[in-house]
Amino acid sequence: MINNTSLLTINLSAIASNLKLVKSLAAESKVMAVLKANAYGHGLVKTAKHIEHAIGGIAVARLQEAMELRENGITCPLLLLGTLLDNDTLNYCAHNDIAVVAHTNENVELILQASLASPVSVWLKLDTGMHRLGVAEESAVALYQSLKKCEWVSDIITMTHLSDAESEDTAPTARQLDDFDTIFSNISAPQSIANSAGILYHPTSHRDWVRPGIMLFGANPRQTSSKADTITDKLKPTMTLSAKIIAIRDVKQGESVGYNGTWIAPRPSKIATLGIGYADGYPRHANNGTPVLVNGQRVPIAGRVSMDLITVDITECKGVAIGDEAILWGEGLLANEVAIHCDTIAYELFTSVTNRVTRQYI
Ligand SMILES: Cc1ncc(COP(=O)(O)O)c(C=O)c1O
Repeated sequence: MINNTSLLTINLSAIASNLKLVKSLAAESKVMAVLKANAYGHGLVKTAKHIEHAIGGIAVARLQEAMELRENGITCPLLLLGTLLDNDTLNYCAHNDIAVVAHTNENVELILQASLASPVSVWLKLDTGMHRLGVAEESAVALYQSLKKCEWVSDIITMTHLSDAESEDTAPTARQLDDFDTIFSNISAPQSIANSAGILYHPTSHRDWVRPGIMLFGANPRQTSSKADTITDKLKPTMTLSAKIIAIRDVKQGESVGYNGTWIAPRPSKIATLGIGYADGYPRHANNGTPVLVNGQRVPIAGRVSMDLITVDITECKGVAIGDEAILWGEGLLANEVAIHCDTIAYELFTSVTNRVTRQYI
C-alpha cells in the first residue's frame, strides 16, 4: 500500500508543448533536446520516449545516461556532452551512434589515435569565454582540420556554450558569438550554440542545432517570478511538487515554530504541517515567506524546513483540513518564484527531488 505524503506529477504533454515553442522560435534549426540529469528530474526514458519522434537528438552529460537510453530502446542520435573521454567510452559511443563532444586537445588526440571500427560524430567545442570546457581559440581550427582528415570521424559539428545568454546585458553573448564566428569563419561545418536562453533571447545564436534544456521543462532561464512576463506565460509548467497537510494547530502570539524558532507568531496563528521536507528535495534554504499554494491560496512558509516536514501559516485561509494538498511549485506557482526565495534556480529545484517522492505521469 502506498500512502505517501508527497507527490511529483510530471506532465509529458506540457513538455511536448514547450518543445513546440522551441521549434516555432528556431524554425530553421534541428533540436538536440538536453535531457541530462534524468531529464532535469522528469524521468529520462519517459521524457525521451514522449518527444523522440519530434527531435533531432538527445544530449546527456554522463555515459550511463546514454546507455540507459539505448538499453530502453531509444534509437535517435545521442550526444554525450563534455565528460572524461577515454577509450572505452569512445568505443561504446562509436558502436551505439552516440556523438561525443571534444572539449580538450586530449579529447581530439584520443579520437585521432582510437582506430575505431564504427564511425563517430564529433562536436568540437570552442571555449568562447565560459572557461570551463572547450578548446582554445588559437588551436581550434588546427584541431578541426585534423579531425576532418580522420577516417573514423563521420562528421564534425562546431559548438560553443553561452555563459550569460539569460542576462539582460547582451554584451557578453554578442562577444561570444563574434569570437565563434571569427574563429570558424573559413570552416563550413554545422554549428550549435544556443541553450534555452539563446533560443529565447538571441535569435542569431540559433544556427543548425539548438540545445534546449530548461525551457522544455517550463522554466524561463531568465529568472523572473512573474507570469505576466510574455515568455514565462508561453512556457507550460511540466513538474508539480505537492504534499499533504498532516497536522493543523493553533499557536499563540509570540510562540515560535520549527527548529531554532526562526518564525514567531505575530498574532494568534494557524499553522499547517506538510509531509515534505529537505529529504524529499525541497530546499532547506527556503526562507520564511516562501510561497506555497494551499487549496489554491498562497500562504507563506513559517519556520525552518526540516527533513520531513514544512510548516506554513494558514491563518488567512478558509476551509483547510488535514489531508488537503499543498503545491510547493508547478501548476499555479512558478518554480522560478520559489527558487528566488531559496537563493537558487529552477534547474536545482527540478533536479533535487529525491526518490522518496512518489512519481506520477499525466
Ligand atoms: C552544453 C550545454 N548545452 C545546452 C544546455 C541546456 O541549457 P539550458 O537548460 O539552459 O537550456 C546545457 C545545460 O547546462 C549544456 O551544458
